[in-house]
Amino acid sequence: MKKKTVCVVGMGYIGLPTAALLASNNFNVVGVDLNTNTVETINQGRIHIVEPDLDAFVRSAVAAKCLTAFTTPQPGDIYMICVPTPFHEDADIPQPNIDYVLAAVHSIAGFVKPGDLVILESTSPVGTTEKMALVLKDAGVDVSQIHMAYCPERVLPGKIMTELVENDRVVGGITPAATHAVSNFYRTFVRGTVLETDAKTAEMCKLTENSFRDVNIAFANELSMLCAKSGIDVWNLIALANCHPRVNILQPGPGVGGHCIAVDPWFIVAGDPETARMIRTAREVNNFKTDWAIDQIKIAVVDASARTGHKPKIACLGLAFKPNIDDLRESSAVRIANALISEGYDVVVVEPNIEAHDQFALVSLEEALKLADVFVALVKHREFLTDTVKATMRQRSAVDFCGVVFG
Ligand SMILES: NC(=O)c1ccc[n+]([C@@H]2O[C@H](COP(=O)([O-])OP(=O)(O)OC[C@H]3O[C@@H](n4cnc5c(N)ncnc54)[C@H](O)[C@@H]3O)[C@@H](O)[C@H]2O)c1
Repeated sequence: MKKKTVCVVGMGYIGLPTAALLASNNFNVVGVDLNTNTVETINQGRIHIVEPDLDAFVRSAVAAKCLTAFTTPQPGDIYMICVPTPFHEDADIPQPNIDYVLAAVHSIAGFVKPGDLVILESTSPVGTTEKMALVLKDAGVDVSQIHMAYCPERVLPGKIMTELVENDRVVGGITPAATHAVSNFYRTFVRGTVLETDAKTAEMCKLTENSFRDVNIAFANELSMLCAKSGIDVWNLIALANCHPRVNILQPGPGVGGHCIAVDPWFIVAGDPETARMIRTAREVNNFKTDWAIDQIKIAVVDASARTGHKPKIACLGLAFKPNIDDLRESSAVRIANALISEGYDVVVVEPNIEAHDQFALVSLEEALKLADVFVALVKHREFLTDTVKATMRQRSAVDFCGVVFG
């Protein structure tokens, strides 16, 4: 049987691993990206993002001529849209920006033929798959003859190549026939269960998963602020409460970062601000936690200044949005370090997962332990969980937002 061709539009953290996996599963894959450097790098069998095992998949797919990248779409049988879906931050309620999705769909319109599958994987507000159908219809495509569906991505960075195969997937078509056809495509390379629903439910499912995380982290963050006022150790409190057989409180942090949990709940709130009260409040609590953290650091600096008699040096431990990764997108730690620097504080930053940063003076952990008067634990990276770090932080001033010393 002739190999099917999959045209994957968007060669980022989601599109490239998906393309490489499909290439290793007997599909002919065309990868499309507007970025010429990305396209050239892939065609050399190399990768432009950090993700374990991805390099080997891409190297062998390109060498076997099963994966080729282009800057414009190419004819295929299956089209997958994996482009960014950021938000417009300027509004009171941040609004989803689906311009990249609509542009990507427009770019494939001239190639789509009867019987093809058109799949959206980008995290999107409810109704986006229907809007994609309208774009194709306006471009003259008979959408009754193609199968369009939404299939959200659930992978964890750092484990993408495993989770793409093992995770359960939700597929929602704009018709039952589309749901079925697209589900069967996923079943050719996914070992998890492929669950069938409609497009709107699948779109809402992805937003629900990330909002669930955001609401639960907001609960922990609110507890941490209440406890600080009452002189209660929040880490101990949560450990005690979690001994209840039906309680499972998450850990607090300096806010919520990353390009998913800090973004996607706004897609629900923007769609119905009157009703989405708890989801909106959770976003506000998590953002407020970062402002609160900055104030706590300032109080610690005043104390350290009185104790040492000089302008204290602050060491911010961690910049990434979560432990043991190099991703700084929407990171609360970055917001905190930036705020302190812009207000004239003397700040050094330790981030073991990156080599250099144009805004921050990066120093080694050893150097920070020698130099700093005030330690601010922002990310629970494994490098910080040593007895030396704990002892030094306890001896000087420490503000711990993620349980490095006290958790
Ligand atoms: N990264 C994750 O862990 C993750 C997890 C779940 C869902 N998602 C969602 O998946 C989507 C993609 O995320 P990502 O992290 O892969 O983004 P990314 O920024 O890493 O990659 C997107 C790529 O799309 C390209 N692009 C933009 N418009 C294009 C167009 N019209 N034609 C061709 N290429 C185009 C960009 O140049 C970029 O290389 C987003 O909606 C995101 O929310 C991401």
